[in-house]
Amino acid sequence: MAQKILLTGGAGFIGSHTYVELAKAGYEVVILDNFSNAQRDVTDRLEVISGQDVTCVEGDVLNAPLLDKLFADHKFDAVIHFAALKAVGESTEKPLDYLTTNISGLYTLLGAMKKAEVFSLVFSSSATVYGQPDQLPVPETAPRSFNNPYGYTKLVCEQSLEQVAASDDRWAFGILRYFNPAGAHDTALIGEDPNDIPNNLMPYIAKVATGELEKLSVFGDDYDTPDGTGVRDYIHVMDLARGHVQSVDALLRTGNSHTVNLGTGTGYSVIDMLRAYEKAAGKDLPHQMAPRRAGDVASVYGDPDLAREVLGFQAERDLDDMCQSSWNWVSRRKNT
Ligand code: UD1
Repeated sequence: MAQKILLTGGAGFIGSHTYVELAKAGYEVVILDNFSNAQRDVTDRLEVISGQDVTCVEGDVLNAPLLDKLFADHKFDAVIHFAALKAVGESTEKPLDYLTTNISGLYTLLGAMKKAEVFSLVFSSSATVYGQPDQLPVPETAPRSFNNPYGYTKLVCEQSLEQVAASDDRWAFGILRYFNPAGAHDTALIGEDPNDIPNNLMPYIAKVATGELEKLSVFGDDYDTPDGTGVRDYIHVMDLARGHVQSVDALLRTGNSHTVNLGTGTGYSVIDMLRAYEKAAGKDLPHQMAPRRAGDVASVYGDPDLAREVLGFQAERDLDDMCQSSWNWVSRRKNT
């Protein structure tokens, strides 16, 4: 019988792509999403891509009775927990919302899992837990810190999972530290679709390419990097999605927890990304140099070795693929 996974936040950007990979790997999946940052037609699109009916429950991870009912209705083998808030700037304006959704949301979920005796969970963490790393590529053993309430919630969640795992060896957690997700599914039916003006580079460039935004501001050209602009580790969302399947496979197979980077190990600058996107879209994209963004660091890219060792995970898709699939998605989305 197929193993069954609860996917919280499964209608969102990374969640929806992970749904596709889980379905392909033969898992049965139930999505829980409150649609606070996802389009309702995502589930129809997932049906087209996966060729199967999508089971989606609308609701919030803070709703304990709803979670209890979900765990009573389905016999889950594991949970992949995406549902959380993720905008750094917003987290400084509404810290309590971030603390509640991200930290209490995790605790509520763990409570329901414990009652239902489901002990395997994959958690969406972030390279934000490294702050400005001293060592590049950054290994998982690097010291952790935080610069804003969003980063604080990711750190507290990681530490909380470590405490819980230490208390009872039935628990197994896959803590995945994402670097910078980019790209979209090859069908161009799902992708990143922020409701507001994006804060992150890739969705911002995409909206400049479609003409929805006028020009990109490059935040700082005097960093200590090859071209002076910030360097990050961009990873194709389909690679990231596969990383979740490999993480849940490993948890269910071994019962052992792991904490790994999900990145490519290669850094690209803001200008590299802009040029690659121009190539994909077949046009020049307006941009201007602007002051550094507060809280930004010069360079962050991850050491991918541990993910390869522990999960057999390796990113396969390159920068051109990230930009081309993103462009296919946003240009199609705009015209439908
Ligand atoms: C940001 C967050 C990080 C979070 C991640 C979630 C900050 C300081 N960090 O990472 O905590 O986990 O998003 O996805 O917000 N850039 C521009 N112009 C833009 C937007 C970005 O030049 O309009 C530059 C930035 O200065 C940076 C690079 O592009 O050098 C990537 O920025 P971004 O996509 O926001 O990601 P991070 O800063 O790495």
